[in-house]
Amino acid sequence: MSPSTIATTGGNRRIRKAVFPVAGLGTRFLPATKTVPKEMLPIIDKPLIQYAVDEAIEAGCDTLVFVTNRYKHAVADYFDKAYELEQKLERAGKLEQLELVRSVLPPGVRAIFVTQTEALGLGHAVLCAKPVIGDEPFAVVLPDDLIWNRGPGALRQMADVAESTGASVIATQDVPRSQTASYGIVATEDFNQRQGRINAIVEKPQPDVAPSTLAVVGRYILSPRIFELLETTTPGAGGEIQLTDAISTLLQEQPVLAYRFQGTRFDCGTHIGLVEATIRYALDHEALSDAARRMMQDALSELGVIEVA
Ligand code: G1P
Repeated sequence: MSPSTIATTGGNRRIRKAVFPVAGLGTRFLPATKTVPKEMLPIIDKPLIQYAVDEAIEAGCDTLVFVTNRYKHAVADYFDKAYELEQKLERAGKLEQLELVRSVLPPGVRAIFVTQTEALGLGHAVLCAKPVIGDEPFAVVLPDDLIWNRGPGALRQMADVAESTGASVIATQDVPRSQTASYGIVATEDFNQRQGRINAIVEKPQPDVAPSTLAVVGRYILSPRIFELLETTTPGAGGEIQLTDAISTLLQEQPVLAYRFQGTRFDCGTHIGLVEATIRYALDHEALSDAARRMMQDALSELGVIEVA
């Protein structure tokens, strides 16, 4: 049987569930992450995890599965109902703030927490969500990758492709060849405007052996078949059970598409990415943009980087 005749994600099914792997230690952001999980670091006034959740909800998800560890109570607390705070805001007539607190998790959306007891890698984290996902295609969202777009979010764009083709879909973007060792890298058969079928995927290859410069970004829509493949995936790059390795087996059985999303991605797993995202969101923020622009010009001219007339 040729790969194209083998079953796909199940054909045109709506994506309802999203998995958020949030069990990492976030050592890059120590000492902040000594007590605050990196997913709770804010861009302006929203934690990274909220941007990821909002994107999943916009894409049609109503079941959010957080794969966490025993140190990450802050994430569960954040999505819990804050009765006292809500009462105080209501009594004080602070209705706008009350709405902000309530919309952390809109009505009809549920949060489920699954514990990853050992840090065995991204593939293992996704496998921990298996009992909650069951036998349907689902999304994986890595909150470190923040994607900004004026139009539909990246996951919404991908869900449309997954729902119309029945294929698994992976977000990708072009990166400089010197950076391939930081990403999963895909090779595609053909590329039709925004998407192409993947025929090879490899985790963090060195630039001289990378099959292309098309890099995986932290958004995936996957067939549930991935769980069976993850169960037999042995540790790969970095000694971890890699999602990339299971996808490499999946694409031999089912179509897996690379999708070049519309939007700008910020790597908030790095210091400079977090700074870049903060600047961009401030410049695009209704109430902050004028002040942010002036402040940046002042700072750059004070440092002698630009001359302001
Ligand atoms: C993970 C994936 C990698 C992907 C990246 C995107 O790596 O393993 O394939 O390109 O996310 O952010 P990590 O950055 O967690 O090491």
